[in-house]
Amino acid sequence: MSWMKQNKLISFRLPLIVCLLTCGLLYCFSFFIERSFEKISIQQNVSELNSVIDSIERELVYYSPDENRDEFIQNLLLILTGHHRLFVYVIDEKGKIVYRTRGPNLTVAKNHIDFDTIIANHSTAIWNQDKASYRIAASRVSIENGRQYTTIVAVGRDLHLEFIRRLHDGLGLLIAIACILALIGSFVSVYFTQKPINRLIKKIEKVNFKSLNYRIPASLVPIKYVSLVKAFNEMLNRIEDVFQRQRNFTADIAHEMRTPITNLTTQTQIVLSNARTTNEYREILYSNLEEYEKMSQMISDMLFLAQADNRQLVPNLIDIDLHSLITMMCEYFEPLTDEKNIAFNLEGNCSHIQGDKMMLRRAISNILSNAIRYTPENQTITIILSQVSEKRVRIIISNPGKKVDSKHLPHLFDRFYRVDESRHRNDNSGTGIGLAIVKSIIEAHKGSIYAESDEQSTRFIINLPTTI
Ligand SMILES: Nc1ncnc2c1ncn2[C@@H]1O[C@H](COP(=O)(O)OP(=O)(O)OP(=O)(O)O)[C@@H](O)[C@H]1O
Ligand SMILES: [Mg+2]
Repeated sequence: MSWMKQNKLISFRLPLIVCLLTCGLLYCFSFFIERSFEKISIQQNVSELNSVIDSIERELVYYSPDENRDEFIQNLLLILTGHHRLFVYVIDEKGKIVYRTRGPNLTVAKNHIDFDTIIANHSTAIWNQDKASYRIAASRVSIENGRQYTTIVAVGRDLHLEFIRRLHDGLGLLIAIACILALIGSFVSVYFTQKPINRLIKKIEKVNFKSLNYRIPASLVPIKYVSLVKAFNEMLNRIEDVFQRQRNFTADIAHEMRTPITNLTTQTQIVLSNARTTNEYREILYSNLEEYEKMSQMISDMLFLAQADNRQLVPNLIDIDLHSLITMMCEYFEPLTDEKNIAFNLEGNCSHIQGDKMMLRRAISNILSNAIRYTPENQTITIILSQVSEKRVRIIISNPGKKVDSKHLPHLFDRFYRVDESRHRNDNSGTGIGLAIVKSIIEAHKGSIYAESDEQSTRFIINLPTTI
């Protein structure tokens, strides 16, 4: 799925999630509020019923309705004063109503399925009668003269129910409005957040290998995305650089191969144009052999670098004494140094390291052969070995000669990079991949290499871990 499609999906999904979350939260909140009100109203009703029943029971005991009827009725009226929608029935053991308030016929409440439980447990129950709802409580009391009275008290629930219904409707409306607002709000905010991102994606989607020089203008996005655009542009810089080097690399290989092949073709055409002696043929074949060897060396160097690129360069680790390895290499180069009367000066020492002997020999010999090439006659190449830390050693190979401009230094390790373009491919200076090979070998050993140069000397500094 393309980024744009995914983005569109997010623009719809996110507001929906926000809306659902708001809905869910508000629903829980309103549920909690409703339940709390309901609980409070039940508690109010229950305590009202209990206090009235208690008071009536007391009156029944102290003022028997048979003996002090007027006083009893008066006190009952006093008890009921201030109670709204409260109904009382006092019934004697024969079912005769001793006292009743106006309102629903509470004798019917005696048929309530839980009536006996209410009396036994001093509890309350809901009683629905004539489309109205009540909470009822009842008690049975026997007094000294042997009479038994049943008191039934009911309090209307309709007002509470109406209040809760209105609360429910109000909260429902509030939830609906809040959800719609949350939906619209999150749609709008997602839209405005996504808009610059979508613009950015459209620009990024247009970048391909042909338009790698394109850079996204920072003005295209709000300030908070500027660092993202900068990071992206920097990534494009790096990719473009790699692409450019890759292009140069291919062109360079083609060029490097063309020169010996042209030489061979021309030479062969000249030879074939006339009859030659066996000696002449032999000479020409020798000269051809040199070109073949050069090509073969270059191809094997390229294969080596390709291996390094694919991380297939796995050093065959053995214990190496760098001091004796370098001494051996210096001896190996003696015929070359003797020609220019160049001396080697090996100083310092370091601990043994774990490394691939063939690879390290190749790396050091590449640096030494460069050093010999660029050192003026009768001068000295210095090699310093040192122990940087317990687990790190350093090799510095320094040769006198012309200063290499600092702008070239980081590129010396690039493939086919040569400082002096005028010498490019025309003499025996090499193909320009020696230091690239050195770098891949050092990196395969988890080490690092860099070059420094000043008026006095050019130095190659290698840091290597003692163990990989
Ligand atoms: N010791 C040095 N002093 C000055 N310049 C150097 C030194 N070593 C390398 N260079 C510069 O770095 C470039 C790259 O070196 P590198 O060894 O990669 O290539 P090369 O020697 O030209 O060819 P190759 O090593 O493949 O035969 C050289 O062409 C040269 O310009
Ligand atoms: Mg070289």
